Amino acid sequence: MAPHGKGSDASEEAMVAQVEGRRISTIVIIIAMQAEALPVVNKLQLKEEHSSGFPKEVPWVRYHGVYKDLNIHLVWPGKDLTLGVDGIGTISAALVTYAAIQALQPDLIINAGTAGGFKAKGADIGDVFLASDIAFHDRRIPIPVFDLYGVGQRQACSTPNLLKEVNLKAGKLSTGDSLDMSPHDETAIVANDATLKDMEGAAIAYVADLFKIPAIFIKAVTDIVDGDKPTPEEFLQNLAAVTAALGQAVIQVIDFINGKCLSEF
Ligand code: ADE
Repeated sequence: MAPHGKGSDASEEAMVAQVEGRRISTIVIIIAMQAEALPVVNKLQLKEEHSSGFPKEVPWVRYHGVYKDLNIHLVWPGKDLTLGVDGIGTISAALVTYAAIQALQPDLIINAGTAGGFKAKGADIGDVFLASDIAFHDRRIPIPVFDLYGVGQRQACSTPNLLKEVNLKAGKLSTGDSLDMSPHDETAIVANDATLKDMEGAAIAYVADLFKIPAIFIKAVTDIVDGDKPTPEEFLQNLAAVTAALGQAVIQVIDFINGKCLSEF
C-alpha cells in the first residue's frame, strides 16, 4: 500500500496525465498590489465579488468574470487593516493562495506582478518574464537538509509553446520579504541563478505545490537591482507604465490558455 497521504508512482503518473489532458476551465490570478491588479481587472471586465468566499475578518478582495471559455478569479490581498497599504510579501501571498485554492478549486494559478531585474542576466525595465524556477533567498538555515527547505525551490509548469507564441522572456525568480537586497540576499539570489527578484512568488509556488495545482509566474521588471538607481524611486517611477505592460502580457497568456489543456502549454 502507498504510504499515508501519498499515491504510488503509477497512480501519481495517471493523475498527472489526467490533469495534463483536461482543458483549463477555472483560473485564479493572484496579484499583490492594487496598481498591478487593476489593469487586468479592467481588461477582463472582472467584477468585485462582495461575498468573496473568504472569512469576514480579512481584507482580501476577489474579482470574478467569465472571459471566453474561462472562469477567471483575481485575488488581491487588499490593504493592510492597520496601515492601509497593499498586503505585499510572502505571508499574505501564502494565505490568499491557500484560501483561494480551498474556495475556488482552480485548474491553474497565475501569479502576476512586478519584480526587480538583474541587467547582468539580461533583464531591462518593462521586460515581461515567465519564471521557470522559483526559490527563496532570505530563509538561511545552515543545517543539512533544512538549508534546502529554506531555499524551497519549486518549478512553474512547463510552457514551451506559450513562451514561443507570446514572446515573453524566460528566467528564474527569487523571492524574499524585503524590497532592498542585503549582501546575504545577494549571495543567495546568485546561488538561485535568478534573473528576477520579487516578494511573493516562492510563497505562492509552495502552496500551489502542496495541492498540486499547476502555476505560472508572470513578472514585469520595474527596477534594475544591479543598476545605480535607488530601488524605491526607480520602482515608483516605472510602476504605472510597467503594470500596463504586465496587464497586456497577462491577457496574451490568458488568450493562449483559452481552450487548451496543460499538455499544450
Ligand atoms: N518588486 C518590484 N521590484 C522589486 C524588487 N527590487 N525586489 C523585490 N520585489 C520587487
